[in-house]
This record gives sequence, C-alpha cells and structure tokens, in this order.
Amino acid sequence: MAKPVLVSGIQPTGKLHLGNYLGALKNFVELQNSGKYLCYFSIVDYHSLSEVFSPKEKSKQILELIADFLAAGLDPQKSTIFVQSAVPAHTELAWVLSTVTPFGELRRMTQFKEKSEDTPQNINVGLFNYPVLMSADIIIYNAKFVPVGDDQLQHLEFTRMITRKFNKKFGKTFTEPKPLLTNVPRLMSLDNPSKKMSKSRPGGCLFIDDTPTTIREKIKRAVTDSGSEVKYSPKNKPAISNLLLIYSAMSGKSVKTLEKSYKGKGYAEFKKDLAEVVVKALTPFQKKKKALKTQSLKLKATLTAGNKKANTVASKKLLEVKKKIGLIL
Ligand code: AMP
Ligand code: TRP
Repeated sequence: MAKPVLVSGIQPTGKLHLGNYLGALKNFVELQNSGKYLCYFSIVDYHSLSEVFSPKEKSKQILELIADFLAAGLDPQKSTIFVQSAVPAHTELAWVLSTVTPFGELRRMTQFKEKSEDTPQNINVGLFNYPVLMSADIIIYNAKFVPVGDDQLQHLEFTRMITRKFNKKFGKTFTEPKPLLTNVPRLMSLDNPSKKMSKSRPGGCLFIDDTPTTIREKIKRAVTDSGSEVKYSPKNKPAISNLLLIYSAMSGKSVKTLEKSYKGKGYAEFKKDLAEVVVKALTPFQKKKKALKTQSLKLKATLTAGNKKANTVASKKLLEVKKKIGLIL
C-alpha cells in the first residue's frame, strides 16, 4: 500500500518562535522520521506576500527558513522540501478553486479578521484569498494529513469544504485532508498566557534563535500565576501550565512526571531548570543552523531539487483537474 501523503507549509516571514517549533516544525521532523508518510514541506512565499514585506528581506527570509528546516532535521532524502512560488500549479489550482468558493465562507475566516485588525492599512485581496491558495497547496498532492498549529484548523475545515464542493461538481478528484496537532497546538505568550505566542507580539515570544542568555532572561521574566505550586491547570494556572507544556515537549518528560518532581518546590527553581532544558534542546539546532547559513549554495541546491520533484507531481495533478473541468481540447 502506498504511504499516505502529508503536506505542510510555513511562511518565510522572519524568525520562528517556540510556538512554530512545538506546534509545527518539530512535529514535521518526527512525522518524517516515522517513515509512515510521503512528506511534502513547503516554504509558502506567495502566502507571505499578503503581509507587508521588503523584497530585499524576502529572499533572505526564504534562505533563513530552509536553514531552519534542515537544522531542525528535515531531510531532503526523506521529504520533498520546496518553495511554493517555484511550483506554479499551486496558484493555477487556486484560481480554479476560487471559482467554487462561496464569498461568504472566506469572509468568516478569523485569521483574515485578526490580520485586518492588526494592519488596517494593508487589507489586501491576497489576505482574503489566502485560504484558497492554502487549500490548493494541500489538495494538489492529495494530502491526507496536514500537521499545523490550532490556529490553522479553521483553514483546514475550509479546505475540506471546498474539496467536497469540487469533488461533487466535477467527480472525485481530491482527497479530503485532516489536521494533525501536537501536544502543544497553541503555545501561549510568555508575557500574557491569555494570548497565543505570535510574531505580531514579539514581546511574548521565545525565538528558536535566541541566545542562551536571552532564553534564560525571557524565561525568568515570564509571567507566573498566583500561588506557588507547579501544577497543570490551564484554567486556574494558565501561565505555569504553558511553561509546563514547554518543559514537557522540550524534555520528553510527561507533565505528570514534572508535577511530581517539582512538588514542594517553587516557581523560581522550576523556571531555572526549564531555561536549561530549553537551552540544551535548542543548542544542536542552533549549531547546525549556524553552519548551514554559511552554505547558501547548498541551501539553494536543496530547494532546486525539491522544486523539481514537487513540480512533477503537482503539474500532473493540475492536468487531471483541467481535464475534469473541460479545459483540455
Ligand atoms: P506561520 O508562521 O503563521 O506560517 O505558522 C507556522 C506554523 O506554526 C503553523 O502550523 C501554525 O499553526 C503554527 N503556530 C503558529 N503559532 C503557534 C503557537 N503559538 N502555538 C502552536 N503553533 C503555532
Ligand atoms: N496558513 C499557514 C500558516 O499561516 C501556512 C500554510 C500555507 C500552510 N499553506 C499551507 C500550512 C499548507 C499547511 C499546509 O501557518
């Protein structure tokens, strides 16, 4: 039996934070290494144009993200790693899908509403259309699984909806994809546990490139809850629960085990240990990334090879779509 296809993507918009890592990238590597899936991981550069950007920075951000991918453990021998804009079938399919997309469904999307509020000077149609392109990214490979953080669940539900619509109208063409979440699907901000960690609020982010000194400082400064017990209770102790999730994901120890080992100890000791756990877990990644960043030719060659593989599969699927809708004479 052929392995199920798994697809995900990250926008090249700057530094990745621990939410991106624990909600997505770390999981990509584990899923790839399980050997159970046919994996495609994309740097979704076209998506990132829907936010304010500088052309000079954009190419750097793409190289930065491929270095992140490889340093975290994505392996071009095991996964197809590519750049969205180098595979034109995605945007072509997005156009076709836009014609089966009800306007009202897009208007409901929370990410569109949030980003419009964040940057009222840049409410562009690309931001509005964004979920249509995301759907194309996914279904063009017949993906069954899509590992993402929980902020993308609504977009995946949307993808499933237009997949069904297309299949109903033109005959079964695409697989309906399902999301895959980690144990940390929504990491909260270090300075405010009621808000998700997000690059639009850098003050609450721990970036995976942060130096050990910065990591120690940020964790020391992270807000805590009243009381002194290290206990997992998202409702009553949202800040400590968030830190416990980080500790657990970065150390591989269960939250229960951690609660036991910190019984009777205070927040200060817990945070001190947590900082060391995070520093230790990120050090190999940071070393590898530093080395990779000096090899931009190798990074570009990796993408060129991945782009070629993705193009072969995606253009074949697009041809199937064009046949289905009567565009092939
Ligand atoms: P983006 O930078 O928006 O392309 O996000 C890349 C991936 O990180 C997506 O799968 C997001 O769902 C995920 N992600 C972003 N923020 C968080 C967070 N605070 N917690 C968990 N996952 C997140
Ligand atoms: N929308 C996703 C995000 O903001 C990025 C993305 C684009 C994506 N295309 C995708 C994720 C396809 C998974 C699959 O994080």
